[in-house]
Amino acid sequence: MKKFRVALLANLKKNAPRFEWMTEDQWDDLDSEHTLNALIEAIRSGGHICEFLEGDITLVDTVRSFKPDICFNICEGHFGDAREAQVPALLEMLRIPYTGSKVLTLSLALDKPMTKRVLTYHELPTPTFQVFERADDPIHDDMVFPLFVKPSREGTGMGISSQSIVHNEAELREQVAYIVARYKQTALVEQYIEGREVTVGLVGNLAGPAARRLPEDEDSPLMQQGLKFLPPMEVNLQPFFDTDVVYSNRLKVALADQLEYLCPAPLDPEQIENLNWYTAAVFRVTGGLDVSRVDYRLDAHDNWKPYILETNPLPGLSPGISDLVIEAAAEGIEHAQLVNMILEAALRRYGMI
Ligand SMILES: Nc1ncnc2c1ncn2[C@@H]1O[C@H](COP(=O)(O)OP(=O)(O)O)[C@@H](O)[C@H]1O
Ligand SMILES: [Mg+2]
Repeated sequence: MKKFRVALLANLKKNAPRFEWMTEDQWDDLDSEHTLNALIEAIRSGGHICEFLEGDITLVDTVRSFKPDICFNICEGHFGDAREAQVPALLEMLRIPYTGSKVLTLSLALDKPMTKRVLTYHELPTPTFQVFERADDPIHDDMVFPLFVKPSREGTGMGISSQSIVHNEAELREQVAYIVARYKQTALVEQYIEGREVTVGLVGNLAGPAARRLPEDEDSPLMQQGLKFLPPMEVNLQPFFDTDVVYSNRLKVALADQLEYLCPAPLDPEQIENLNWYTAAVFRVTGGLDVSRVDYRLDAHDNWKPYILETNPLPGLSPGISDLVIEAAAEGIEHAQLVNMILEAALRRYGMI
């Protein structure tokens, strides 16, 4: 393996700007120093030179002085609708290679309704939905209670609690009003899928002609060539059912260390194959690169039919905590190895190895 100069680009929680008007969960998406150090160690263990650079405006100068061969990008960004795409856009202006998905994919994935429009176009299953700009928007006929209300453009369970499930018009309007006011964005209202909580991660890239195939080319094993699927992970929410029946911000942040992760999820092989195929299809139609994770709910009332909730082209990489890391571990892939797999996928894609 050739050795490279790798700049690790991230947004550290402790470097994030803070203003009075911010919500408490504003920076729940950003990374800790612990994660950062583990990533640096991992990349160095691959034999590379690695330094951390903060992914803010200072990067314009720091990246030009460090002169990396490639950047390992996990920047979530601070402000703006396409915040995850800002660092990639800068790197493209500077013509510096980077790991992971590019500008369009990262901006798309941050916008859940827009992603769902793409999935719907490709006939991939995602809950029926409507976007509310205001609490008093007229309700479409195909919206049937119970419904689920969440912010259109957040992550890490922000704005999500048991209150997100609404059973009548009054509850719906109240929850939409809360999301619009608190998160200063539209509310995504979806059909509520009661059931199990599963996520599937992958590393790699669609290879050769597969990249040009349509997702409905269901029988083609080529579609998945070049992709490494990690075992599906299920979060067992049952112990929390008194207070949380969904994967809320409270569970993801405050109670993360008390959750039980089932990995591989107890699913039959056809269901796993089905989920892998959907994950590859989502990766393809949203233009994913190198790594991704797709979140599902399996419908308890329809034979555990999978519904795609969202795609995470910048999945968390915190050792022992992040879903993707737990999935890799279930297959004996250690944190450092996972990180180097992502780096290698990018190096191969750029023709650097
Ligand atoms: N339509 C839905 N039906 C049931 N539960 C949902 C629905 N949408 C979201 N959830 C619950 O909320 C959690 C977080 O939603 P998700 O869209 O994945 O946002 P985040 O970016 O915060 O992970 C999901 O893991 C699931 O538990
Ligand atoms: Mg999610």
